[in-house]
Amino acid sequence: MTKERYSRIIGSGVYIPDRILTNRDLAMRVDTSDEWIVTRTGIRERRVSDKDNPTQGAIALEKALKSAHLKPSNLDMIICATNTQEQLFPAVAAKIQAKIQEGEEEPQYMAAFDIQVGCSSGLYAECIANAYIKSGSINTVGVVATDTLTKITNYSDRSTCVLFGDMSAAEIITVSSSPGFIAFDLGTDGRISHLISCHIYSDKFHGKSYLQMDGKKVFNQAIRRMEETARNILKKANYSFSDINLFLAHQANQRINENLLERLDIPRDKYFSNLEKYGNTSSPSLLVCRHEAKQEGKLHSGDLVLSVVVGSGLSWGASLYKEI
Ligand code: ACO
Repeated sequence: MTKERYSRIIGSGVYIPDRILTNRDLAMRVDTSDEWIVTRTGIRERRVSDKDNPTQGAIALEKALKSAHLKPSNLDMIICATNTQEQLFPAVAAKIQAKIQEGEEEPQYMAAFDIQVGCSSGLYAECIANAYIKSGSINTVGVVATDTLTKITNYSDRSTCVLFGDMSAAEIITVSSSPGFIAFDLGTDGRISHLISCHIYSDKFHGKSYLQMDGKKVFNQAIRRMEETARNILKKANYSFSDINLFLAHQANQRINENLLERLDIPRDKYFSNLEKYGNTSSPSLLVCRHEAKQEGKLHSGDLVLSVVVGSGLSWGASLYKEI
């Protein structure tokens, strides 16, 4: 009888830029206030990176490899989730592959590619890694989620500039005889793709372009879609909300997530958030939350973790994960 293959996370790492941009700093640039930002979003500060995505993504992946006690040559694949790639091609993942093997006499040529699904990208990358591993074609994947949203943020638009920050995170996902990842639920409504968009930002014909967002509509869609995907995945996997030990949600606006907690009847003490320190960092948001929850002792062996995300597309998704 063939044994069932599952996947699980055996290491993680993050890159957090040093430079802090506070609400008070922003209030000196646009007509806003610390009080408005905290009350309407829950954000107090965010980070601004002086590095590009390949550099900060490689730092996060090296830390994740170290925490898994593995070397770059142990990876069969690198998947990079990003929305702010500096070039249309080559893939950020290819550059990360080279950076983590700098100086190696015999570098490994594992597959390396990018995916781009707005703020949902990190969870989608985990889903792809899980599918490859379950199929039996590979054993170990380095998932990197990296974004530098401050480079496409318009600092004269107060309705968006208070929201975003820079960050990278990485996870090592490997084959396991028990879950690990139990289920995923993914969805997209391309009819409302215009709600969050950004034209190619290094376009020499059109000049610099910035992230545009219809905040109110995204706010309502975010609650609706994250609630639906959370309900779908639990039904699919035959669990109920009372089984959940830890709830992780894309860090966009604390009011969105508090509304979700209420609708799903999840107690506040099961929810982990770092939004006030980092703002919305897009693809790494969920992975950084998981990493910090574990570091802060909020994630224990046997815990059931429900994660939900939403992002441009409009895309959304959920995962159910059993901590081993
Ligand atoms: N400071 C002070 N006032 C502000 C600011 C600000 N930074 N931003 C907007 N306002 C004003 C508006 O101009 C408006 O004023 P008016 O009533 O005189 O017209 C008033 O505040 C209310 O504006 P709203 O847009 O209704 O404010 P809202 O409470 O909806 O908050 C926000 C705006 C924070 C953008 C919210 O809509 C939001 O968080 N949306 C979701 C964003 C999100 O989840 N994005 C996720 C995906 S991003 C990705 O995938 C890259």
